[in-house]
Amino acid sequence: MSVEESGELPGKPWGGRFSEPTDRDVEAFTESISFDRRLYREDIEGSRAHARMLRRIGLLTEEELEQILSGLDKVAAECADGSLPLRIEWEDIHMHVEKRLVHHAGPAGLKIHTARSRNDQVATDLRLYVRREAGELSKSVEALLRRILLRALEYRNLLLPGYTHTQQAQPISGGYYFGAYAERFLRDRSRLLSVIENTNLSPLGSGALAGSTLPIDREGVARELGFSGVTQNGLDAVGDRDFVADLLHALSLLMVHLSGWAEEWVLWSTREFGLIRLPDRLLTGSSMMPQKKNPDILELIRGKTGRVFSDYGGLLVLLKGLPLSYNRDLQEDKTFLFDAIDQTKACLAMMSLAVEGMRFAEDRVAEVLKGTELLATDIAEDLVRFGMPFREAHAIVGRIVALAARKEVPLEQLSDEDFQSFSDRFPKGYAGTLSLWGSVERRSHAGGPAPRTVSRRIEAIWKDLFGEEPMPGGPLR
Ligand code: ARG
Repeated sequence: MSVEESGELPGKPWGGRFSEPTDRDVEAFTESISFDRRLYREDIEGSRAHARMLRRIGLLTEEELEQILSGLDKVAAECADGSLPLRIEWEDIHMHVEKRLVHHAGPAGLKIHTARSRNDQVATDLRLYVRREAGELSKSVEALLRRILLRALEYRNLLLPGYTHTQQAQPISGGYYFGAYAERFLRDRSRLLSVIENTNLSPLGSGALAGSTLPIDREGVARELGFSGVTQNGLDAVGDRDFVADLLHALSLLMVHLSGWAEEWVLWSTREFGLIRLPDRLLTGSSMMPQKKNPDILELIRGKTGRVFSDYGGLLVLLKGLPLSYNRDLQEDKTFLFDAIDQTKACLAMMSLAVEGMRFAEDRVAEVLKGTELLATDIAEDLVRFGMPFREAHAIVGRIVALAARKEVPLEQLSDEDFQSFSDRFPKGYAGTLSLWGSVERRSHAGGPAPRTVSRRIEAIWKDLFGEEPMPGGPLR
């Protein structure tokens, strides 16, 4: 029976050149269907656009196009409900879709691979996939940002110690604290959006490496797939995975931000720090120690970060030795890509829960603020205001801090006489001007912690992200 009669491609598409079937172990080693079936939507979407193009340039009749499109619908349904037969001898998602298309559409299906190679096909599928996933990831980042902004609003009047080197440094507010993470995740969001922009070119028509002699319409296919244009050199395009690396870079930095935050909260939720609490529904216990409540989700965010970095590193190592055009090594790119996406999405969801569920232990926060030296920099800046060079002021305040430590009182409880014994530039009544919250309010320049500055920034971010949707609990001031 000929191919036309059976409606099935016999064995491999390359059978003609070969004198014996592929070794089963080789098939098992070279297959990618076990993981690349995730690309089925993109593969079918690309095939639809390719078929319509073949019709436009007269290589398919209207009837053949109809048969192919309805055949592809059937393949899509099989993929979606899990009934697509999986065979390692059909290697990958591209051959599976083609095989099933021929099964459903008959001889018309034999024309789908005209002027197309799996090399430009997989490059196209991956770009469509990265574009879609980067869009979804940016939505997940927005969901996290929404929660961060709400907590910033809620805690905008909570006085907090700001740390450097994990040592108390200067007073800040809860709004400023959450606002800092908002800035980080905003940058992550814009990195994801620029990945979408850089990825958005169509490689279809590159063929195996050097295009096709047939009169293909690459721009039309690109338009139909929502690409902003076409890639400009097939030899480059079939081996280009820069856009995958761009996404993994964006995800790695996103994980840096999640992981650092997770670490901070692991520390802050210890008995020793005790600044925050997580609700029981987000904690896990110990199989042996009855008293334990552990922040495992935060630790796993920190842990999975290593995994995403290794996905990025693994991809770069995969790419570094490859000559131009398609090389089979590239098949492995998906394992890194899929894993990094899965892990990052899961971590974003967990961090959103943690942000929504945490609360500051306000009594404990007040306690750690007692007897602090957080106003030292303010006092040095006051001396500058009273006419002293900063270096000199810094040295004097160092000695004032040492005095307060000897007396075991916070700086704001020293007397006017104490201050004046160090410099006669301190005016009468100076001691009474010092307050931790006052210090937060004084730093009202752009990027500073003053409540009005923070509120304006939070509102601006909210408006950027969510437009006219009113901020629950707003407006601020
Ligand atoms: N499964 C392959 C991949 O993921 C598709 C391209 C294969 N091309 C080839 N000429 N063997 O990269």
